[in-house]
Amino acid sequence: MAGINCIGILTSGGDAPGMNAAIRAVTRSAIYSGFKVKGIYRGYRGLITGEIVEFKTQNVSNIIQMGGTILKTARCKEFQTPEGRKMAYDMLQKEGIDALVVIGGDGSLTGARIFATEFNFPIVGLPGTIDNDLFGTDKTIGYDTALNTIMECVDKIRDTATSHERLFFIEVMGRDAGFLALNGAIATGAEAAIIPEISTEVDQLEELIKNGFRKSKNSSIVLVAESPITGGAMSLAERVKNEYPQYDVRVTILGHLQRGGSPTAVDRILASRMGAAAIDALLEDQRNVMIGISNDEIVYVPFSKAIKNDKPINRELLNTLRRLSI
Ligand code: F6P
Repeated sequence: MAGINCIGILTSGGDAPGMNAAIRAVTRSAIYSGFKVKGIYRGYRGLITGEIVEFKTQNVSNIIQMGGTILKTARCKEFQTPEGRKMAYDMLQKEGIDALVVIGGDGSLTGARIFATEFNFPIVGLPGTIDNDLFGTDKTIGYDTALNTIMECVDKIRDTATSHERLFFIEVMGRDAGFLALNGAIATGAEAAIIPEISTEVDQLEELIKNGFRKSKNSSIVLVAESPITGGAMSLAERVKNEYPQYDVRVTILGHLQRGGSPTAVDRILASRMGAAAIDALLEDQRNVMIGISNDEIVYVPFSKAIKNDKPINRELLNTLRRLSI
């Protein structure tokens, strides 16, 4: 931890439940280890414009249970330019910040990686995204809460789907990853999940129809991962209307409600462990790594691996879903 006295912390990209628990854990572990902490508001944008406040332990009191992020968040175009990053670096110098903890998803950690290399600046990342699409960690902060939210919503939709004997396509988030759709489908007893990971291998809709879905049922629920690769729920419903008009189809897009709400115990514990581990990593002179948890152990994943490698879906889950939806 050569020369580190003050640690800056920011949240960036899409918010995720559990980010506040992570902010709390980073702040308190840092203070516990004798560091000064500064909270940077509105992600990389606040780093450029200097929206920076010193954090004491009480700044993070009563936030572990809150969704969203008290630091606010943004998707900052300026940080994608060398000029923007230079302004951010100058601000860090001015504020006396010697290391950064960045909580965010794929795009945010990509920015962190470029900045860390360009200015030889120590950064530790925490995977904060509902998408669960970062390689090297079993779960990302926010994923479990989003999955539980999806489960509650789909359970409600099932009531009306059953009453009206309808086929529902329910679109869930995930950007280009199908973790929420696939595990959401298993958790709700859905008939199928249409996910980008296997979209290029098979026409999932055709397969569904061919296998005679709904053969013994009076309603069906299909979870669809939002993605240009799957085409999304709307376009699948259109196809069914045109090709199989016998089905009474409806669409629900769950949207941003999946990002809100109080984090589950799983997310709070994950965020707390990862936040504390970020400070351990800096104490051990680690830099440019993302904190992950693999098989219940903390791991340090180089940014290059976390971002670049596609996290594979577990094929056993697909098989389980198929077998249980007969
Ligand atoms: O990465 C999180 C996420 O919620 C994705 O699942 C989704 O595609 C995207 O962010 C939506 O972003 P925005 O809130 O900027 O519309």
